[in-house]
Amino acid sequence: MSVDTLTISKPVLVGILGLGTVGGGTAEVLQKNSVEIARRAGRSIEIVAASVRDINKKRPAVLDNVKLTLDSNEIVDDPNIDIVLELIGGTELAKDLVLRAIENGKHIVTANKALIALHGNEIFAAAQRKGVTVAFEAAVAGGIPIIKAIREGLAGNQIEWLAGIINGTGNFILTEMRDKGRDFEDVLKEAQQLGYAEADPTFDVEGIDAAHKLTILASIAFGVPLQFEKVYTEGISNITSEDVEYASELGYRIKHLGIARRVDSGLEMRVHPTLIPHRRLIANVDGVMNAVLVRADAVGSTLYYGPGAGAQPTASAVVADLVDVVRALTTDPGNRVPHLAFQPDAIQDIEMLSINEAETAFYLRMQVRDQAGVLADITRLFADQNISIEAIVQKEQKDDQGCVPLVILTHNVLESNMIAAIEKIENLSSVTGKVIRIRLETLG
Ligand code: HSE
Repeated sequence: MSVDTLTISKPVLVGILGLGTVGGGTAEVLQKNSVEIARRAGRSIEIVAASVRDINKKRPAVLDNVKLTLDSNEIVDDPNIDIVLELIGGTELAKDLVLRAIENGKHIVTANKALIALHGNEIFAAAQRKGVTVAFEAAVAGGIPIIKAIREGLAGNQIEWLAGIINGTGNFILTEMRDKGRDFEDVLKEAQQLGYAEADPTFDVEGIDAAHKLTILASIAFGVPLQFEKVYTEGISNITSEDVEYASELGYRIKHLGIARRVDSGLEMRVHPTLIPHRRLIANVDGVMNAVLVRADAVGSTLYYGPGAGAQPTASAVVADLVDVVRALTTDPGNRVPHLAFQPDAIQDIEMLSINEAETAFYLRMQVRDQAGVLADITRLFADQNISIEAIVQKEQKDDQGCVPLVILTHNVLESNMIAAIEKIENLSSVTGKVIRIRLETLG
């Protein structure tokens, strides 16, 4: 097919639900790279209509020829539209519109991680019945083609585990706290101004956004149904600059990781702050950047790095999905890449393990009286729970009760054993306040 033939074939028509930053970025990328995109897709791709909340809002010139409407149903019901790009966000309205578009035989491209994590099983089943595709590369880690890498590039492997920095806002906050000693609230405000944070920033800092993304990654890595409700989720709002500093002195960085790991007894899915050795490449992923480390049996470890948010990086993933969908328009639906990497009838229910069943090492910090026998009491309680200690550091600075910080690193231990030990340690008269605990992964 020559470039001339491409220019005369009928363009593929796209309608957008919700025309914000990503919609504008997508229109810019489609225009800027139109020739390259048409050469790859085999046809040109044109945005013809978009639903918006405010028709009169000033928009970039690239959207001048896009018909605007206040009624999203006009987009999903328009018989001329081949692909609906869902950028409305949220889960309820987006789900209704996506299901209606699928019923109307339209293919979907979405950047909506919450929609896929919460309602993906139902949406993919509906899409399969209608023989249409729902593409969602932009839902995880912004511009990094991580869905394609796991779903297609690693298809010959058994995946053992993956660990990702998959929330740019959280990573930006932890990086600024470490590098500039800034406090949490101050950095969060800046992330909101820069447009990285979710509409509700607690989704970023409490790990919900990362849990949405981890749900999707775990599903395509292990061939399990999407199960957001099974992800253990802990945020970063309790991380103090003290812990960031002590971790650093011990050779670790604190990162907010999403981890999915296949073990003999089932599958762990957890999002929590994690100490990782500073020499690991992923420990050096800073600012708003994202990275996902995947350990698979044949290839070993592979690391995927890039911008996790922003208009053009997210548009890069959206346009790649549009190209994929255009290429697949003329293929037999049964022969397309399955939505969740595994054939729908081969998706398996693997037991999801609770956090109590996870095995990790720990960083612990507690305030203790500086007197004889304190360490002996604490180490005895650890021994009772079969917990082996890797390192102990006692700091010098005394608080107003005359207590000093004690920092302990442990070897791998079952979470339930650690909880039991901490409960007893907190009851010792020589220990004041709560024991701070942060999980530690060597990712080796
Ligand atoms: N709020 C998200 C983040 C945006 O900070 O990573 C991209 O999903």
